[in-house]
Amino acid sequence: MDKIRIRGGKTLNGTIEISGAKNAALPLMTAALLTEETLTLTNVPHLADITAMANLLAQHGTDVALDGGAADGGSAGRVLRLTTPTISSTTAPYDLVRKMRASALVLGPLVARCGEARVSLPGGCGIGARPVDLHIKAMEAMGAKVDLDAGYMIATAKGGLKGGRVVFPKVSVGATESALMAASLAKGETEIVNAAREPEVIDLGRCLIAMGAQIEGLGTDRILVQGKTSLHGAEHRIVADRIEAGTYAIAAAITGGDILLKGCSLDLLPAFIDKLREAGVSVEQEGEAIRVTRKGPLVGVDVMTEPYPGFPTDLQAQTMALMTVAEGASMVTETIFENRFMHVPELARMGANINIHGSSAMVRGVKGLRGAPVMATDLRASVSLVLAGLAAQGETLVQRVYHLDRGYERLEAKLAACGADIERVREAD
Ligand code: EPZ
Repeated sequence: MDKIRIRGGKTLNGTIEISGAKNAALPLMTAALLTEETLTLTNVPHLADITAMANLLAQHGTDVALDGGAADGGSAGRVLRLTTPTISSTTAPYDLVRKMRASALVLGPLVARCGEARVSLPGGCGIGARPVDLHIKAMEAMGAKVDLDAGYMIATAKGGLKGGRVVFPKVSVGATESALMAASLAKGETEIVNAAREPEVIDLGRCLIAMGAQIEGLGTDRILVQGKTSLHGAEHRIVADRIEAGTYAIAAAITGGDILLKGCSLDLLPAFIDKLREAGVSVEQEGEAIRVTRKGPLVGVDVMTEPYPGFPTDLQAQTMALMTVAEGASMVTETIFENRFMHVPELARMGANINIHGSSAMVRGVKGLRGAPVMATDLRASVSLVLAGLAAQGETLVQRVYHLDRGYERLEAKLAACGADIERVREAD
């Protein structure tokens, strides 16, 4: 299994091109199931999860075309054309869904277009139990009958879905996306209450509108959808990956460097950028780019994750890595997922001083970290170890980097371009 070796202590300076967002691309790809015509997605990131989703859609009958096909990080292979003239199978099998939870997002489009779907339950993952009861609740509010059988959600909607009132007891990005896609083809009006406001949800909504859907209230917690009998093809550019951008912002901050993040804007990360500035980091918009620099001391700040526009849970681990070398203490509280501190014992191996108390972690800044062999556990935890390795004295060896490939395109190349001493160590399995 591949590993990543980092020799830390280098100040990073340079420019990084931000890719299209994984967490926008995945639901957008499932939206292709809603029409017989071609959905063209541009700014597609080169990630393992995108390939997994393409394989899933193909077995539903989607013709998947990636222009240029090259995965060299260049401009080629960034345009995806998805055409589903007919849906050949309404089953999303366990073997595909268990590899990538976002596969469950095909539930809404399949029920909406075919009146039936058989989708494997995704099961839990390292960061939490992650049930899908709210996705089911949304389908039922639109008149579907959903049974659970042998690890599958069996959904039927004789005569198609009907508009309804979906009230979410808690904010869910995925369930909001399922409801949005299903409601786009339901008869009549659907109201989604306590909807997620994440930029990726807005991006999906904008694409659905380009496909002919009628949606109001994107970006607010109350969305209204007037269902259509059919949707048509469209072309949509995937929004920038704010989590990738936030991750590289911390690379600049933790090494006392200066990095320009091209293709990203401050308004995608309001709460995160406020916290970076509070910690002593300068963050400025420069045209279609964000410049992140840190020259002065780094100070500890308290962070609590929340749904957008609050502090993103997907930047919690990376921010904790930054706080391990800040002056003073910081309290990091995780409110979205119940098991998202897997990076803590690994950071401690590098000399960090962190104590967990339930859903909070008290981080006391240390003078410096020491490189060590560490183990990746989930996508964001693993990149927090790479960031700590950039700041640490000596060599850090991150194992199980397949976690990283799911969500970061050409991570080593992008960091090396800014002066990082980082390389992938390929090892036969
Ligand atoms: C999306 O996951 C992202 N994944 C996650 O990013 C991100 O952490 C999360 O939103 C929160 O921002 C993708 O977009 C592919 P949720 P999702 O439904 O949709 C509970 C990464 O690192 N819940 O908003 O699965 C759930 O257990 C990944 O890129 C229910 O109880 O997240 C969690 O506690 C990790 N029932 C909370 O809601 C449900 O039916 C928020 O989950 C659905 C969710």
